[in-house]
Amino acid sequence: MALFILLISAVLTAGSSVSYDSGPFTIHYDATQAPTLRITATVDGRPDTVVWYTSTSNRTFVTAARVEQTVQQNGGTFIFTTSVQEVCSEMTITRNGTRTSTNAYNQVYFGGILCKEVEFEMLFQAQDLYNPTTPTTHLLFNLSLTNSSSFSFNQLRLTYGCEIDEQIYGFGAQYSKFNTKGERLPLFLSEQGVGRGLEPLTFVLDEVSPGAGGKWYTTYTRVPHYITSHSRSLSLDSLEYAVFDMSRDDVIVIEVQSLVLAGRIITGASPLEIITSYTAYSGRMSPLPQWVGEGAILGLQGGTESVLETLDLVKKEWGNMSDVVGVWLQDWTGQRVFGENGGRDLPRVGLWWNWEVDESHYQNWTGLISELASRGIKVLTYINPLLSNVSQRETPYRHNYYREALEEGFAVRNGDGTVWTGYSDSLLVDLSNPSAYQWMKNMIVNNMLATGVCGWMCDFGETVPATGKTSQWGRSPRLPLSLPRDMGPT
Ligand SMILES: *[C@@H]1O[C@H](CO)[C@@H](O)[C@H](O)[C@H]1NC(C)=O
Ligand SMILES: *[C@@H]1O[C@H](CO)[C@@H](O)[C@H](O)[C@H]1NC(C)=O
Ligand SMILES: *[C@@H]1O[C@H](CO)[C@@H](O)[C@H](O)[C@H]1NC(C)=O
Ligand SMILES: *[C@@H]1O[C@H](CO)[C@@H](O)[C@H](O)[C@H]1NC(C)=O
Ligand SMILES: *[C@@H]1O[C@H](CO)[C@@H](O)[C@H](O)[C@H]1NC(C)=O
Ligand SMILES: *[C@@H]1O[C@H](CO)[C@@H](O)[C@H](O)[C@H]1NC(C)=O
Ligand SMILES: *[C@@H]1O[C@H](CO)[C@@H](O)[C@H](O)[C@H]1NC(C)=O
Repeated sequence: MALFILLISAVLTAGSSVSYDSGPFTIHYDATQAPTLRITATVDGRPDTVVWYTSTSNRTFVTAARVEQTVQQNGGTFIFTTSVQEVCSEMTITRNGTRTSTNAYNQVYFGGILCKEVEFEMLFQAQDLYNPTTPTTHLLFNLSLTNSSSFSFNQLRLTYGCEIDEQIYGFGAQYSKFNTKGERLPLFLSEQGVGRGLEPLTFVLDEVSPGAGGKWYTTYTRVPHYITSHSRSLSLDSLEYAVFDMSRDDVIVIEVQSLVLAGRIITGASPLEIITSYTAYSGRMSPLPQWVGEGAILGLQGGTESVLETLDLVKKEWGNMSDVVGVWLQDWTGQRVFGENGGRDLPRVGLWWNWEVDESHYQNWTGLISELASRGIKVLTYINPLLSNVSQRETPYRHNYYREALEEGFAVRNGDGTVWTGYSDSLLVDLSNPSAYQWMKNMIVNNMLATGVCGWMCDFGETVPATGKTSQWGRSPRLPLSLPRDMGPT
């Protein structure tokens, strides 16, 4: 009996392993016991380095689920409530192979069935990224449900292996935890929160404005990309609400609120090599100009008179202004008092989001900039993708960008097609629309750079409504940071 079983399993082994190449990657499929995938590449001169693998301790790596998810939005704060209705993880792989194309690397596919009723396909394909300094190749993966019975499901999960001692770093701006191994980390672009668990601050803020206190993981900069202490790296291309569940020792589970879960496996010998490869895809920040590091940039506000008076005061106190290289004047578009007439806004002084100078607040704006330039001081301003209904303002304005955006159809909309005005009654410019992007870029060129402004704070992006185009959700509608680079050094 024992001999017989041994014989059978030997036969199975021979017929149940297969390897496919896609560019510099090799995908090994082994169906001897549990179906497993193992991906190798040459890293740091070492061939056959394992860069990704599914766990043999888990018989399944693809899971479909049906969850009920509600989201409560309050400005840039989102509270998600998720309740799992059905989980389907009984996975069978029924087909595997490659599709070739003349101008691209092999596409390797694994098709199968979950719970005997849902078809899925997992694709792998290498892709070259051309970057002036660093050509690199990523292995793209794309898991999707492929037949219509799939649509009672709305979440896909990918379960794969990690080492027990593998530390995991990344995910954009994470303020509370550096190594996220052991955590369940939801990724969604939002306000980061005030306090983030620091009591009693967070409690008080949550009472005034639900969710405003934040959680350890809430972040302005959601980047679903990590690098591990074993120099492994993976990044999601999917933009929907995602959770990286790293709470188990030996597996990572990615959950995406979508029927497509797509991303890329990135290789490199060191964190530096990996981030260099990743930024060939994501974009790479240019070095800051030298003057930024040569002295203080003072955050001042209050209008032309007030700025000049404060600088005189600073000079009297410090005696030597050559240490001041810039002033940041965030209120260049005029100050706005929020919450005056009750309403939903917290009482505060903010800005009119109409991205031109308010000449009644900053008289002789270009004169102020050249006066400061003669003292060796550069001027920086502020911009975000929100627009206030400026016709409610008492002081004069030249453009009513709010009205122009409505006329041009540049505003982000709710799921029902109405214009979203959920943040202090302002609208949000849809920067995924190329015409809207160009229109805002012109504001920067004409109203900021042409007047001598040298830099700006590029704020906000947290308020994209969670009811509209889901393709906008995870993407920051901030004006891309490449904008200054597009326009040359300033
Ligand atoms: C992979 O596909 C080939 C046919 O393309 C098939 O012969 C082989 O049995 C499959 N392997 C497994 C493990 O299913
Ligand atoms: C496989 O992983 C799932 C979570 O994705 C877990 O619930 C299940 O217990 C695991 N099965 C085994 C055999 O480890
Ligand atoms: C993944 O595959 C699906 C189904 O083929 C396709 O619709 C989708 O565009 C792909 N996504 C990516 C990011 O490649
Ligand atoms: C989906 O595919 C599975 C497996 O092939 C099949 O049993 C099922 O009937 C299909 N459902 C639909 C709606 O086509
Ligand atoms: C002012 O500071 C600069 C740079 O620190 C220094 O070179 C210069 O001598 C100082 N001038 C006076 C009057 O202290
Ligand atoms: C504007 O400011 C400049 C520089 O300080 C000054 O020379 C000019 O007279 C000012 N113009 C007006 C109209 O105040
Ligand atoms: C903008 O504000 C004006 C003045 O209060 C008001 O009449 C107008 O309806 C507002 N426009 C929109 C689109 O809300």
